[in-house]
Amino acid sequence: MEKNKRTKIKYVCDDCGAESPKWLGRCPMCGAWNSMKEFRTLPDPAARFTGGMEPSPPSVPVLLHDIDAGKEPRWKLSMPEVDRPLGGGIVPGSVILWGGEPGIGKSTLVLQICGAVSRTGRSVLYISGEESEFQIKMRANRLGMDEEKCFILSSPDLSSAEEQIASLRPGLVVIDSIQTMYLSGLDSPPGSPAQIRECTHHLVRIAKQTGTAVMIIGHVTKEGNLAGPRMLEHMVDVVLYLEGDRSYQFRILRTVKNRFGSTAETGLFMMDEKGLKEMENPSAFLLRDREIRSSPGNVIFSCMEGQRPVLAEIQALTVHSAFAVPRRIAVGYDYNRMIILLAVLEKKTGLSFSDHDVYINVVSGFRITETAADLAAAMSMVSIQMNRGLPSGTVVMGEVGLTGEILPLNHVERRMKEAYKMGFSHFVLPASNEEDSRRFTAAHPEDTTVSLISHIGEAVDSLRSGNS
Ligand code: TYD
Ligand code: MG
Repeated sequence: MEKNKRTKIKYVCDDCGAESPKWLGRCPMCGAWNSMKEFRTLPDPAARFTGGMEPSPPSVPVLLHDIDAGKEPRWKLSMPEVDRPLGGGIVPGSVILWGGEPGIGKSTLVLQICGAVSRTGRSVLYISGEESEFQIKMRANRLGMDEEKCFILSSPDLSSAEEQIASLRPGLVVIDSIQTMYLSGLDSPPGSPAQIRECTHHLVRIAKQTGTAVMIIGHVTKEGNLAGPRMLEHMVDVVLYLEGDRSYQFRILRTVKNRFGSTAETGLFMMDEKGLKEMENPSAFLLRDREIRSSPGNVIFSCMEGQRPVLAEIQALTVHSAFAVPRRIAVGYDYNRMIILLAVLEKKTGLSFSDHDVYINVVSGFRITETAADLAAAMSMVSIQMNRGLPSGTVVMGEVGLTGEILPLNHVERRMKEAYKMGFSHFVLPASNEEDSRRFTAAHPEDTTVSLISHIGEAVDSLRSGNS
């Protein structure tokens, strides 16, 4: 690589990516000692990479009023669970970051997207620093892909890959993963914040200059968030996270940032032996197509996943504790929230859990983060503690305040509709949502019943007396 006269030296923290013009013994951002590494910034990447295009003319300011707000061109992929989180499809020239834990299915999903893009008539270049061409072919075979316009480049060297991008001019470039790529002009090893950042700078420039869409895959580990894709979020246009529990099939694609659309959308998938399948009826999957039963400890909640209601089953178990400090374990549910709910129940309803271990679990690997699930989680613990099931076909919704009052929730009608569609007809709702529930029951008068409650004590009492 030719060395440019203007090559600058700067110091970058290996832990958090903070920059400084001088060497420092301690990083001013994260406080790590001896983490500042020297590295040379490459000559202006804009000058290096032109992708065979004319340099763009100098920019001049334009009046906001005069800017043509015509619709952004988008490539629709005919994969609704991907198109929606992307805001309606891929915007040419955009940079999309795919984050997620190793092994969650990022390479699988992005390869499926490559297939979908090439079916729209655009060429794709999939650059992998992790897998050989053979391995990628094996995966493509498993996914049933046979696309002609999908080029594979197995190389972690981004500098040489840039030349291939310039000569191939693909519609979409995929980088799998950013942690394995390197620019040969930098002293830092692949995966270091300096390499990750500089590689991303190059890729962003390629996207903006050529109109090629770029997808960057980045592994996020629970501990190493900082040195991973999180520090790239501000540089890219769209950030998507693929989440789930590897021991289950359920996967959620969440939009964390989107310069071209809403971040309220999510995509739902199921991982099987032929890749990630889009989910048409997530409620049926999460309820595992079982008949609606009511055993003590089981409560159904209608959860908003993005803009879509999904039914989830919360299970609780309480057993006499053999420990001095009883155990509390939450899977798929927030541990701290569970502790708060137990405290409210003890204080406001007189139920005691202090000599019991309490376990709470959301079925099928789903994760509930909404506070609207408070009442359902609380009732699952109360129900098992009393050994009384809720009436069959019941859905419980509402947030529980520290005083024990039941706070209102949003999207009530949508949640009720989804539950009704799945065969549930009895609803336990916050009294403050009476209006919404009346609108719903007006349309389904014969077979729906609603219990409106304003305090957790009412829910516990009605379960005690057997008419929840
Ligand atoms: P992968 O896409 O390699 O994960 P990531 O790129 O996020 O690290 O997916 C890894 C897991 O997915 C692997 O354990 C096997 C599983 N898998 C399937 O279950 N079905 C499939 O069709 C494929 C390709 C992978
Ligand atoms: Mg991978």
